[in-house]
Formats: sequence, C-alpha cells, structure tokens
Amino acid sequence: MHIPVLLMEAIQALAVQPGGRYIDCTVGSGGHAAAILEHSSPGGQLLGIDADPRAIAIAGTRLEAYRNSVLLVNDNFTNLEAICIKYDFFPVHGILFDLGLSSLQLDDNGHGFSFQHDAPLDMRLNPSQAITAADIVNTFSEAELANLLRTCGEERYSWQIAHRIVQQRPIKTTLHLAQVVEQAVGGRRGRIHPATRTFQALRIAVNQELEHLEAALKQAVGLLGLQGRLVVISYHSLEDRIVKQFMQREATDCICPPAAPACVCQHKASLRLITKKVITPSPVEVGQNPRSRSAKLRAAEHIINQSEEHGLTETLGLCAAVQAGNWRRPALTDRLRRTFIALQVHAF
Ligand SMILES: C[S@@+](CC[C@H](N)C(=O)[O-])C[C@H]1O[C@@H](n2cnc3c(N)ncnc32)[C@H](O)[C@@H]1O
Repeated sequence: MHIPVLLMEAIQALAVQPGGRYIDCTVGSGGHAAAILEHSSPGGQLLGIDADPRAIAIAGTRLEAYRNSVLLVNDNFTNLEAICIKYDFFPVHGILFDLGLSSLQLDDNGHGFSFQHDAPLDMRLNPSQAITAADIVNTFSEAELANLLRTCGEERYSWQIAHRIVQQRPIKTTLHLAQVVEQAVGGRRGRIHPATRTFQALRIAVNQELEHLEAALKQAVGLLGLQGRLVVISYHSLEDRIVKQFMQREATDCICPPAAPACVCQHKASLRLITKKVITPSPVEVGQNPRSRSAKLRAAEHIINQSEEHGLTETLGLCAAVQAGNWRRPALTDRLRRTFIALQVHAF
C-alpha cells in the first residue's frame, strides 16, 4: 500500500470542514482523499483526479464507502479548470496536490519508474501518452540528454552520463540504464544510487511534470472560494521551487522589479500564505515511511483582492439598482456574464 505523506498536516492545512467541497488533484490510491472525506463528513464532496488509470481504479475501490460523495476522473491536472467546469465542481473549499508517484507506481514493474526492478523504460503515467523514457534515451542527441539531466535532474555528471548513454544505445530497460549511469560516473559512492537523478529527469520529461504543475497552480486559485485553501506536497527541489515562487508571487501585491521607480504591473495578491515556513515530516514519520523524507508541504488561502472587490461591489450595486427598477436589465447582461464566475466563487 501507498502510505499517505504528511496526512494530518495536509488535513489541517486544508482546514477540512463538514459539508466542504474539495479537489484532490493527485488522488493516487486515495489515502489523502479518504481522510478528506472522513473529516468533511457529513455532506462533504470530493473530486479526485489522477493521470494514471490504474490509480483511479485503486482509488475507486478504496473510496467505495463514500461513493455518493466522490467523483473520480482519469485526467491530467493540467486540465483542472476544464474538468471542474465539465463537472460543475467549483468553487471549492480546498485543493490538494500530493505530487510525484505513489509507492504502487514505483514498485510496479510495468511502469519502469524504478531501477529496483528490471522493466521496459516506459515512465508514462498514462499509457496513452505518446513519448516513453526509451524514446528520449534512444533518440535525443548527446547535448539534449545532457541538458535534460542538468535541468530536470540537477545532475552534476550530466555530460559524462549523456556521453555514455549515446555510446551504449539502444537502452531499453531500467536495469540497463542504471548500469550505464553507474559506469559513467565511475561506480557507486554514498547511499544514493547514481542513477537516481537520471531517472528523475526522465520521469519529469516524459510526463512534462513541471509544465503541468505550473499550469495547474494558476488554474487552482480561480477555483477556490473565498478563504479556500491550496495545499501542495512536493518531493524534489524543482517542484518545490515552482510552488514556493508561485505562492510568494500570488501573495504579493506588486511584483515589479525592486529597482522600478513605480508600480507598473498592477498585480494584486490573491493568496495569503498559511505556511510561512515549509512543513516537513517528523522524524517519526520518516522512520515509519522513509519515502516521506523529501516531502515539503506549502499552503495558502485564497483572498479577495482589491480590484476584484471593487468589481464585485460595483456589480452588486448594479444588481440592486435593477431590483429597485432604476436600471434596464439588458444593459447589465454583459457585465453580469463577465462577473458571474467571480460572484459564484466569492459568494461561496
Ligand atoms: C504521491 S501520489 C498521490 C498519493 C495519494 N495522495 C494517496 O494518498 O494515495 C501522486 C499521484 O499523482 C498522480 N499524478 C502525478 N502527476 C499528475 C498529473 N500531472 N495529473 C494527474 N495526476 C498526476 C500520479 O499518477 C500518482 O498517482
């Protein structure tokens, strides 16, 4: 089984409440989802998303007891907004991302995510995706491979590994690749296997993990009701940097360069940081579940910003004028249409 990481910390950061509506963008085997449903009962609702159809099947079984309160969707969270519109599931009280892979995926030979088992170099979260890790390993040029290993794996020996890979191609299996990397860096040193960063880089590239995360975070804010919570658990520094910078930017009014004489960006904060300092697992949790050791949790709360507030106040004033019979209804239609979604979100 996959053991959910920072479980109670995530429930607290989401401020789960009875009757609340939540989205788990990475439902996996349903560990966090089950706890959200338990704490939001009675009346809670959960939309669970996962790119891996096998995860959705497992979550379906795990969450069977809550079947009337759960909607599971096999899709990529990069389509978060479209999914919520399709199923009319917004605004929500909280959105959770528990990024990366579940233990089931890491331990499953079919996925080829791990060098602990010999398996085809696949690494696709969803078997319908076009590009596999084997495609990248066997078709990228040496320079492209080195660049990928450096940017997505933060690999110090990127050139040596890329050079060796190109010499040894075709490489079709996980163990073969791990062996090639080990040879390229001159054998094992320390506790971490030398192929760890290469596998991370390939997985990130195959699933476009960083691009999808950036896209989904932007969409998430617009789906949160007032004081709705955004909670993200990440497992490596590239993901955590994206989350940290996104939350900091969205919690800041002006994002002009510090040297700018006056604000020209007009940016208004839409989030308030809940976790000023990142939350990490306790030594007890790491002892019980070593895979939790790199986890970092960040959380923020949706706030209404001044320009939104102004627009809503104005619209509500116009609505009152219509009601009082002082305004012709058709003149308002367009304005109302444009602010409809915002009203739905903020009147939540
Ligand atoms: C760490 S696991 C989540 C485990 C889950 N919280 C639980 O308690 O069982 C991460 C899950 O996110 C899914 N995932 C990763 N990237 C995704 C994406 N871009 N869109 C949708 N699901 C994604 C993976 O397939 C995996 O099942």
